[in-house]
Amino acid sequence: MSEHVVIEIRDQVQIARLNRPDRKNALSQAMYAALADAITNAENDANIRCTLITGTEECFTAGNDLSDFAAGPVGDFETSPVGRFLFGMARAEKPVVAAVNGPAVGIGTTMLLHCDLVFAGNNTAFQMPFANLGLCPEGGSSLLLPEWLGRVRAAELLLLGGTFDATKAAELGLINRVSEPSATESEALAACAQLAAQPPAAVRATKRLLNRRNTSELREAMLAEGELFGERLKSPEAAEAFKAFMEKRKPDFSSFS
Ligand code: COA
Repeated sequence: MSEHVVIEIRDQVQIARLNRPDRKNALSQAMYAALADAITNAENDANIRCTLITGTEECFTAGNDLSDFAAGPVGDFETSPVGRFLFGMARAEKPVVAAVNGPAVGIGTTMLLHCDLVFAGNNTAFQMPFANLGLCPEGGSSLLLPEWLGRVRAAELLLLGGTFDATKAAELGLINRVSEPSATESEALAACAQLAAQPPAAVRATKRLLNRRNTSELREAMLAEGELFGERLKSPEAAEAFKAFMEKRKPDFSSFS
């Protein structure tokens, strides 16, 4: 349970809403745990046919809480709250839909790679600034992005770590639809209602087949990413990046080799 993730079940659709506006919905350990529990609950509850993950019209999430990152790795990755969430998303048999607006940073973008449908407002700013922060890709992005987008487009997003908008994300095939921010959630909910009305076993079978090629390779990639990510979190480069963020200045990596 986290006060910063509001869970609601409506007409067989579970809605998990990120709700930490003063931190731009930055994800804390408790929030990952709540999201992981929501995914597990959906899998186990016959009354839930699909899950919608969303934030507000202004903000999806600024990604991992950077003060948590600065505190270092959280122990065994797979059983940590973030690991439980990411592996739970990758393994989920029931559909997960996302409605995003505003910042969708770091895991705010990579979690979408595990969603079945993604709706984004035209105010969305996607970004995977892992290298920029002295870190490395996570969430299976080092496997899925080159496979889906091609090597150089994945490298651009992961090595340069710049922001890209919803039109670009749609061109890249990372999202389904771009809408006005005020319509993102209602469009996503309409899709969730459609999914909830479909024959549930056929939906699960279809999802299983769509993910089949990647299942074992994805787990391997996520474990490798998790290990390197834990090492990078302890690096002087990351320490400089986190300190710079707290001090509201640009990081200086000029002295690192
Ligand atoms: N972790 C912790 N706190 C965060 C945060 C994060 N990931 N993102 C934002 N915040 C905090 C800010 O420090 C600020 O706190 P303050 O009011 O005490 O100064 C508050 O949330 C509002 O953020 P702010 O930067 O003022 O909002 P903005 O609209 O100008 O910019 C972002 C929004 C998302 C572009 C910007 O906050 C940002 O780049 N955040 C860091 C994203 C990031 O690197 N995430 C990790 C990815 S791996």
